[in-house]
Amino acid sequence: MRNINEDSITQAVIGAMAGCKNPRLLSVMTSLVQHLHAFAREVALTEDEWFEGIKFLTAAGNISDDKRQEFIPLSDVLGLSTLVTAQNNLKPEGCTESTVFGPFFVDGAPKFDNGDDIANGAKGTPCFVRGTVKSLDGRPIAGAVIDVWQSDEEGFYDVQSPIASGEHEHRARGQLRSDAEGGFNFRSILAHHYPIPHDGPVGAMLDALDRHPWRPAHLHFMIEAPGHERLITHIFREGGEYLDSDAVFGVRGSLIVDWPRQEGGFHTLDHDFVLNPVAAP
Ligand code: BEZ
Ligand code: FE
Repeated sequence: MRNINEDSITQAVIGAMAGCKNPRLLSVMTSLVQHLHAFAREVALTEDEWFEGIKFLTAAGNISDDKRQEFIPLSDVLGLSTLVTAQNNLKPEGCTESTVFGPFFVDGAPKFDNGDDIANGAKGTPCFVRGTVKSLDGRPIAGAVIDVWQSDEEGFYDVQSPIASGEHEHRARGQLRSDAEGGFNFRSILAHHYPIPHDGPVGAMLDALDRHPWRPAHLHFMIEAPGHERLITHIFREGGEYLDSDAVFGVRGSLIVDWPRQEGGFHTLDHDFVLNPVAAP
């Protein structure tokens, strides 16, 4: 394999992978190389531009750690997360739709009982959240594991700020279980619109593209129950800003819900979730 040139390089790389024993990996990598090379040819990529790309990816890696994730938002703002979510979550009519996961889920968040306040000191207008988890045939699902997470009134998730003295590590996030009737409820704070983290390379990219970093107000849910597909979704606030220009393209009409303000100034959110049963083997 010598004297590889502009025309022969793609086949040379594909040929170098011919011994790969994993057929799926081989198929994905072959396609990736073909598309990557086609992209470079199509835009006639210069060496300076190629090096800018390398610098961008290096910066995304350098800014990421166990609390800050830059590659998920990168995938999100490029629409790749929505594309992958959509093509892998085709559900029958009646099921709750999925949307992007985002970078702010934390494994091991505190467990709560129904009725508890999950805010743990996070600041915001009080909000009471209530709902049920059901299967597609309408049967309630008892014991479903429900993870919820959200930003505070200033648009920050707990993981985005250092823990001040006396503050709880986990704020406005937690895990609950549905009761015998599939019901769950908890107190929290009203979710607010917020910008995705834009002080890193993804923010610089959005700036360069004249795009804004804002997401409409939402509350994240991840619901797991035996015999059902895991549901990753959010519920958006009807009437909120940015519903039509979400920086990460995650809004589904069926997930926009009224969170009415009640006498006394608090808000309520009432929503039922329908899980897709796993097809019998
Ligand atoms: C989120 O909703 O938490 C989120 C999603 C994508 C990028 C940043 C944040
Ligand atoms: Fe979010």
